[in-house]
Amino acid sequence: MKILLTGANGQVGRSVVMALSNGGHELVAFNRQALDIGSAAAVSSAVQGAQPDLILNAAAYTAVDRAEEEVEQAYRVNRDGAAHLATAALELAVPLLHISTDYVFDGSREGHYLESDTVSPLGVYGQSKWEGEERVREILPNHLILRTSWVFSPHGNNFVKTILRVAAERSELRVVDDQRGAPTSAAGIAGALLQIAEQLQTEGETRWGTYHFSGNPYVTWYDFALEIVRLGQVAGIIDHEVNIHPIPSSEYPTPVTRPSNSALSCERIEQHFGIVADPWIAQLQRVVETLQSR
Ligand SMILES: NC(=O)c1ccc[n+]([C@@H]2O[C@H](COP(=O)([O-])OP(=O)(O)OC[C@H]3O[C@@H](n4cnc5c(N)ncnc54)[C@H](OP(=O)(O)O)[C@@H]3O)[C@@H](O)[C@H]2O)c1
Repeated sequence: MKILLTGANGQVGRSVVMALSNGGHELVAFNRQALDIGSAAAVSSAVQGAQPDLILNAAAYTAVDRAEEEVEQAYRVNRDGAAHLATAALELAVPLLHISTDYVFDGSREGHYLESDTVSPLGVYGQSKWEGEERVREILPNHLILRTSWVFSPHGNNFVKTILRVAAERSELRVVDDQRGAPTSAAGIAGALLQIAEQLQTEGETRWGTYHFSGNPYVTWYDFALEIVRLGQVAGIIDHEVNIHPIPSSEYPTPVTRPSNSALSCERIEQHFGIVADPWIAQLQRVVETLQSR
């Protein structure tokens, strides 16, 4: 299978490149410099030129707070870019695997969010991602949208790297403990997307639609930070005691309010594809070891 990948320098993009580096499938990978998904002409030309069997969109505008200032740019990438890719996929009659976010929800639900639950994004990023989802649904029947949450990896910017960096410098940390969600490794997302791509190729195209995929169990940022610091100490990245204090979100104001609960129910992807995420702690251990070896 020939896969066209966008956003190849991002957390998920890099993980897809790594997962495919052992062969098996042909990969045509574009980073932002090589393909700006906000340009309809560039997307059409790249897709027509590569003639892939499937498109995987890992490109996105992901700066949640900055999106409130850079509204146009967020929509250009997350809504219009998704639409351009769906249009190009339709023209070539190939499927699109697209990634979306738990931040389409406002967090008011008790328990896990289902794919069919009503969305209510709290900021520009979440709204632009939701509108991107909707464009994909309108344009291309053969789409699969994977919503995920709290992505971490050894690359780019993420909570794991921030906590390790700050904890290496300080002995006191304050971390929010009234927002719950599920940390998810980029490697796990890449693995799930590739399993889906293979199943769609060999078993037909009956399972299009929207799916949730995240690590388990769900926790607060505070719980997550405790585990990151513990593993950082085991790996020798942090060489001192660190006191982590739980605080409410009101003591850590951000331009965009985060959902207080963004736990995603992942039953549908298990039923339709037999895919179950690894516990995030095992993936976290791998990421911390990778960072330690650098
Ligand atoms: N990160 C999270 O916690 C999280 C949570 C839930 C869902 N998601 C979703 O998961 C997906 C992957 O996220 P990620 O964590 O891998 O994000 P990421 O590390 O920020 O990667 C996104 C990539 O997209 C690229 N990009 C930005 N604008 C572009 C454009 N106009 N054309 C082409 N590429 C462009 C970026 O390029 P540069 O490297 O040049 O900036 C970056 O490499 C996204 O759909 C995101 O919305 C992420």
